[in-house]
Amino acid sequence: MDRIFSGVQPSGNMTLGNYLGAIRNWVKLQDDYESIFCVVDMHAITVWQDPDDLRRATREVAAGMLAAGVDPKKNIIFNQSNVSAHAELGWVLNCVARLGWLNRMTQFKEKAGKHKENASCGLYVYPNLMAADILLYKATHVPVGDDQKQHLELARDIAQKFNNDFGKEVFPLPDPMIFGTATRVMSLRDGSKKMSKSDPSEYARIGMTDDADAIAKKIRKAKTDPHPIPDNVDGFEDRLEAKNLMNIYGALNDMKLEDVCAEYGGQSFADFKKALTDLAVAKLSPISEEMKRYMDDPAQIDAILRDGAERANAIAQPVLDEVKDVVGFLRP
Ligand code: TRP
Repeated sequence: MDRIFSGVQPSGNMTLGNYLGAIRNWVKLQDDYESIFCVVDMHAITVWQDPDDLRRATREVAAGMLAAGVDPKKNIIFNQSNVSAHAELGWVLNCVARLGWLNRMTQFKEKAGKHKENASCGLYVYPNLMAADILLYKATHVPVGDDQKQHLELARDIAQKFNNDFGKEVFPLPDPMIFGTATRVMSLRDGSKKMSKSDPSEYARIGMTDDADAIAKKIRKAKTDPHPIPDNVDGFEDRLEAKNLMNIYGALNDMKLEDVCAEYGGQSFADFKKALTDLAVAKLSPISEEMKRYMDDPAQIDAILRDGAERANAIAQPVLDEVKDVVGFLRP
């Protein structure tokens, strides 16, 4: 059976973007693949995280997966730092990847901003650790958002160079499973930016634990334009915010964008926003209630993460041992 690996960072609160863009898709994949889902806490600390917030966010990501329907018995759910092989393989891959490759990574440039000199070294080698995550399980498929495509190509390059350098087919080249733009959720304030946990504006995102009032308020305040809703998908030119809201509607309701256009075309945004609010509340509230139930019982989450780490380690350790042997590390 093919094996999936994917990860979500525990930095800030889970958003609708994490749900529609990642976790919801994982729920659909879990019957057809052996799946490993990781809360990537080591990636999170590439930028500053308050330790208490990190603990809380790690549990919240796990709670989000569980509440959305990821089955922890069928799949492996764990936090990255709990399987030390990630750090160990990460180091070996730091020595395989080339500076020139990392210098091309657009996400580093975005995250480091103008003050590159002040970025952590971890942020720079972030893609190498991500490659380690995937290769440690010899994953064949990696479901990720559009924005992670470049990192995944790098993971393939690293796998290939490792295999070439040592003359052994240790790592299969992982295939990306990129979900369509329909699941790419953008900021409610700026339709050209991804909806992000770390956006300074609360109004840019809908949180997975937002209550009905918060959801209503954020959708009401979401940026739109003065025109009516377009009645076909060609009507979105320069209307990124309109497209985003309609995409969200379609994703939540399992509808194609063109069908959303057909249904709401010509109406005002005020009416459409009411419909979107009702839909978002209806779809998210059962999940957010379940998340709260988990968050009230951190011991239960911790037990699931512990069990997941044990099972992940059972797969990872033999691969790490193989890597050590291939590289020439003694294991006396
Ligand atoms: N970089 C990914 C993101 O920010 C998270 C991630 C870390 C990941 N390791 C991974 C995703 C391995 C897929 C596979 O979305």
